[in-house]
Amino acid sequence: MTTKNNDTDLSEFNVLVCVTGGIASYKSADIVSKLVQLNATVNVAMTDAAQQFVTPLTFQTLSGQNVYTSLWETAGEVKPTHIPLPEQADIMVIAPATANTIAKLAAGIADNPVTTMGLSAHGACPILIAPAMNCRMWDNPITQTNIQTLKDRGMAFVGPDEGYLACGATGMGRMSAPNEIVEAIRIMLGETEAEQA
Ligand SMILES: Cc1cc2nc3c(=O)[nH]c(=O)nc-3n(C[C@H](O)[C@H](O)[C@H](O)COP(=O)(O)O)c2cc1C
Repeated sequence: MTTKNNDTDLSEFNVLVCVTGGIASYKSADIVSKLVQLNATVNVAMTDAAQQFVTPLTFQTLSGQNVYTSLWETAGEVKPTHIPLPEQADIMVIAPATANTIAKLAAGIADNPVTTMGLSAHGACPILIAPAMNCRMWDNPITQTNIQTLKDRGMAFVGPDEGYLACGATGMGRMSAPNEIVEAIRIMLGETEAEQA
């Protein structure tokens, strides 16, 4: 697909980046940085597991916004954040998306900021999922069934890729590169020549 050059301006867009507890979460900082450099407004939500890998401070600094780490602490907001954030967003991106979070989304479980926003995004904004996991977790029919369920529900996927995995194995499960995920976001936002033609 033909795309605009890297001068694409996303200043009219609000992107909700959700980070879950995979080793690839360090790459999410790059996704947020790239989106901010394209002038998007970026809000970040994290699961508890994600915070084991990367600190909220990293995303707060890169995004210039409060980071949502709890359903119960609303970062100074009066309203609960899990409803308005997907309403304000033009797209919700879950990167990396763990097998656990994918399973919860497929089952409609809403027990943390990311899964609750995933449920409340219905009818509010599209969801793009970038899975990342060990190749056997990826190949597991349970995971594949959950992914098909989410695709049937209209959620979009980018990746995963095949390659070297952090566990030392080589196979499917590597999160797509930040550039590819940002490109998928731009395509979903209609910021491509092909979409605009
Ligand atoms: C070092 C380490 C790396 C992990 N990497 C992944 C991963 O890449 N993908 C995945 O699905 N789970 C991974 N896990 C397991 C998840 O962290 C675990 O399932 C957790 O409950 C996910 O929670 P969340 O989906 O709420 O973020 C990893 C766990 C550890 C300890």
